Amino acid sequence: EDLLADPVEKIAKVGGTRHPSIPLPIDLFGPERRNSAGIDLQDREILADVVRGVSKPPFVPSEVEGRGASDERVSTALDTNGAIGRAHAAFPAWSATPVEERAACLDRLADLLEDQRAELMAIAVHEAKKTVSDALGEVREAVDFCRYYAARAREGLQPIELPGPTGERNVMRMEGKGVWATIAPWNFPLAIFLGQTVAALVTGNTVVAKPAPQTPAIAGWAVGLAHEAGIPEDALILLPGGPEVGAAIVGDPRIMGVAFTGSTATARRIARSLLEDESRPLVPLIAETGGINAMIVDSTALPEQVVQDVVTSAFRSAGQRCSALRVLLLQEEIAESTLEMLSGAMEALVVGDPADPRTDVGPVIDETAHARLMTYRESRKAHWIKSLDVPMEGLFVPPTAIRLGDLSELTQEWFGPILHVCTWKAGELEATIAAINAKGYGLTMGLHSRIARNADTVEALARAGNLYVNRSMIGAIVGSQPFGGEGLSGTGPKAGGPHYLYRFCAERVTSTDT
Ligand code: NAD
Ligand code: ALA
Repeated sequence: EDLLADPVEKIAKVGGTRHPSIPLPIDLFGPERRNSAGIDLQDREILADVVRGVSKPPFVPSEVEGRGASDERVSTALDTNGAIGRAHAAFPAWSATPVEERAACLDRLADLLEDQRAELMAIAVHEAKKTVSDALGEVREAVDFCRYYAARAREGLQPIELPGPTGERNVMRMEGKGVWATIAPWNFPLAIFLGQTVAALVTGNTVVAKPAPQTPAIAGWAVGLAHEAGIPEDALILLPGGPEVGAAIVGDPRIMGVAFTGSTATARRIARSLLEDESRPLVPLIAETGGINAMIVDSTALPEQVVQDVVTSAFRSAGQRCSALRVLLLQEEIAESTLEMLSGAMEALVVGDPADPRTDVGPVIDETAHARLMTYRESRKAHWIKSLDVPMEGLFVPPTAIRLGDLSELTQEWFGPILHVCTWKAGELEATIAAINAKGYGLTMGLHSRIARNADTVEALARAGNLYVNRSMIGAIVGSQPFGGEGLSGTGPKAGGPHYLYRFCAERVTSTDT
């Protein structure tokens, strides 16, 4: 028997049920909004009361709580085999379901996510340690992904008539490929987990979805809602577990595509695994990975705006965004004055309980991350520009700015609230961009300047997927700022962009002599 069937069913059931202990429904956000662009946080206080009211999420199913890499209850290839078998069997019926019906499931899922926004936020705060405002952004982005991909599918997955000589008809169809594996990180445990998954589903694929081991409960809740929205249970199967479950899924020859978001190292492992078995079909890997993201500031930039955008980009979400600013490159003339202002602004950050609405910076995800970041930070102590005091209890990493001699000292992504700072000299803009590009990553880049020519130069030379000029570098909006990098930062296509769905499709052309 499939050992996983029972817990997965239970997760799905829990996912679809509102727990009675949550004091809802209340109208948290006023009139319905369909896109997250421009919505402010005026209802933060009300929401925080709801989140605080749930001291420990009673709705986290015991089957998934604490289930991690080493838990053998869910970590066997046997479980994976059963789950993939079910998804494989469900493929013909789901892929034959009209695209309009599949898209309608995504719209219904978006409605359910909006209805249960507060529950989802509460889980995000408790399980992923998100601040209240980050948890709100998380749900909104998940809703946006569902609605956006539903709309793109209706518009872009219709058969296309192609030209040909008289007497010949050429038609291209976009169809599902089979079972996709979607593998998600813990830092966007709802938005990215669901975004990848609904993209695969709406294009006619069935999905085995593996959340990060740190965040199975929010994924379980979301999958429950997806089933409630009409996606057949075997078309979307949740397979919680750690790296070895991920490896077993990816290693199964029935998997016809992998959508992965996580570290560059894991993406490489997955790519290798997909090519290992020579009898296996060649299948696409969509990998969205990390970055060593830089912001260049020249001497014409507005200092107050620079400081605000640096603080937001480097320290919000405790620096645990792939888009976060890792290295600030200040033109020499303005470096010391900017750093003085930056140190002052850092002091105003509130580091603490993520469920408290006043909190700007919460804890990091787990002890491993905490230990790694603290050790690194300590090793650079002689070069600290500024470090904050934070609560001793809990997994808090003090927001810290560290001076670098030059960019070559930064060789990896430090996934936390640690900002590196370097200077550059007038006349060295091109060389500075080249040095950033030479890191090999290419996710986000920022520029603060009031010289149009400098903006043009950065735009022309930067090898980064998302360039932000005179603003913060985080919080890409679905449909407006399609997100994703190049080089070591990922394969594309961009999530939340107009081309994303096509990578999930088999493109088939029929040419008929009429
Ligand atoms: P991770 O690579 O450790 O894990 C990501 C997922 O892969 C998890 O579900 C994990 O269980 C699974 N996994 C691990 N080993 C595997 C294997 N061999 N085969 C299959 N699956 C495996 O990353 P993380 O720590 O969860 O996330 C943080 C990283 O994600 C950072 O590097 C960050 O920059 C990146 N990230 C990128 C984006 C983006 O859009 N570019 C977004 C969010 C996070
Ligand atoms: N899409 C997320 C952001 O832009 C990672 O911050």
